[in-house]
Amino acid sequence: MCGIIGYTGVEEAQKIMLDALEILEYRGYDSAGIAVCGRDGSIRIRKCAGRVKDLRLLCEKSGIFGTCGIGHTRWATHGGVSDANAHPHKFGKVTVAHNGIVENYRDLVQRYHLEEKLQSQTDSEVAAAVLDHFYNTDPLAAIRKTVLKLKGTFALSIMFDDIPGTIFAVRNVSPIVIARAQGGSMLASDVTALGQYSREYFVLPEFYVAELKETAVELYDMAGEAAEPEWLTVNWDVDRGSKGGYPFYMEKEIMEQPQVIRETVMPRIQGGIPDLGGDGIPDSLLMDCKRICVVACGTAMHAGLVGKALMQSLVRIHMDVELASEFMYTDVIVDEDTLVIAISQSGETIDTLEAVKHAKKSGAKTLAIVNVRGASVARASDYVIYTNAGPEIAVASTKAYTTQLAVLYLLTGRMAYVRGSFGAEEAKAFAGELMRVPEVMQRVLDRKEEIHYIARSILNAQNVFMMGRGLDHAILLEGSLKLKEISYIHSEAYASGELKHGTIALITEDTPVVAVVTQGKVKSKEFSNIKEVQSRGAGVILFIKETFGLEKEASWESVFMLPAMEDGFMVMPASAALQLLAYYVSLDKGLDVDKPRNLAKVVTVE
Ligand code: AGP
Repeated sequence: MCGIIGYTGVEEAQKIMLDALEILEYRGYDSAGIAVCGRDGSIRIRKCAGRVKDLRLLCEKSGIFGTCGIGHTRWATHGGVSDANAHPHKFGKVTVAHNGIVENYRDLVQRYHLEEKLQSQTDSEVAAAVLDHFYNTDPLAAIRKTVLKLKGTFALSIMFDDIPGTIFAVRNVSPIVIARAQGGSMLASDVTALGQYSREYFVLPEFYVAELKETAVELYDMAGEAAEPEWLTVNWDVDRGSKGGYPFYMEKEIMEQPQVIRETVMPRIQGGIPDLGGDGIPDSLLMDCKRICVVACGTAMHAGLVGKALMQSLVRIHMDVELASEFMYTDVIVDEDTLVIAISQSGETIDTLEAVKHAKKSGAKTLAIVNVRGASVARASDYVIYTNAGPEIAVASTKAYTTQLAVLYLLTGRMAYVRGSFGAEEAKAFAGELMRVPEVMQRVLDRKEEIHYIARSILNAQNVFMMGRGLDHAILLEGSLKLKEISYIHSEAYASGELKHGTIALITEDTPVVAVVTQGKVKSKEFSNIKEVQSRGAGVILFIKETFGLEKEASWESVFMLPAMEDGFMVMPASAALQLLAYYVSLDKGLDVDKPRNLAKVVTVE
């Protein structure tokens, strides 16, 4: 939910941290700050409500100079958006930047008599105060004692007044990655902020303490014993973390989809058949499970819905899709015969991570579909398949979603083959259609200006309904979320047949309705339902598979002909079209497409 950063080395910390915070800003952006240990050993702080660009202006007016510092960009949880509540927080000899939620902070305020001493309303300052309470020249002891008192999630980046040039870090659930380069050491909430600095990094293990110095990084367990980091290599080009000339990351990431889908699929087709052996997924896992349960949130959950439709129709296996935040509280039936699939772009969504842990306790095998290598959800699962989407910076997920779908198609194809639903020829035909996705999707992206033109008809709408059946409904649930989260227009995706059971009462003259028709088996029913809303005056924008005939007498607000694929693969071109629709509405409304209000890219609170 927030982004933290730390640097200690030979260079000025201020610039390195401001640049890195700009990259991390997608994790939360209502206030920002840095603390720098000056050459005189004193720690100075600059922080303010607003974006990193506002912090940069503050630092231009009154810079803080030194080669060791920590920084933070915030998504407010405890305490409103204000300069005082911005991080870092200094208490006594301790300065802290924190990502997470200290759930027992009120108890700690009472226990350590902090009521009159706090400068902010945040749980993070309380963590700093407890660290200061225990600090008596031994930082590892102070951190260990503090961690034992904290309940909840935390990624803490810490400086002590009398240990200049050194940063300490400790985490529980909230992420921290650490890098070494020739000029020093650096930590961040995720690897996108380190890419400019180094390609070798490690994920700080939970409840281990890292000590970052100019010349080395030391790692200790809670007993103070030295430990060896597990070094990883950044698995994408650093420049893929920049906008590449597009006005927003979202447009760049939409346009990258054909390439990253190809990079996700092609290595997993062997002899023309889907093959997950390279990911360490044994066929036995796919053959032995009796049912599947997806746990995920938001867009990732919508990908799960597509996976459910594919698995149930092609593999004939029962598959549930559960909201990760509900999974532990709704007594879902999960046992050793269940394969739980956790889908998560960041791999750090707490709801999904906790759901994986709960599933494992219930005896289920767990498989993660994750985009960020070494992320918590991947590490908590028995198996992992990484999407090759590269860094996804825009809060609204696009290429991560379609590469998640690509992995679900591969999983479905492999499962159908090993369980005998597919013979070799059918498996090859299925894989062949999957390999066509990038070029078919490109044909949609090449017509983006057509969709930009269509978008103008919902630019000023207050409410937009979306309607489709089966896979078309799953497609629209995701299309609706995209529109809501970046244009702030209320949108609702409805199974077409369900509208007449109540919600059609909301359809009035000119209500904008988006309809998707790509599934032959429900096409005629979908047209009947479309007529129901048109007869009540709705203006319908139709996205339809180009090989389907159009109802001649119907009048359409707009029609976009989608390039044809097998019905089961039409999710891909249709999703690209709906992503562009949402993007252009937000763009033409003059909104910050990449950083919508109230949102953050990674939701690390339950
Ligand atoms: C996607 O557009 C949303 N920003 C959000 O729903 C996101 O998909 C959800 O928070 C899950 O994130 P994850 O994939 O990183 O777990």
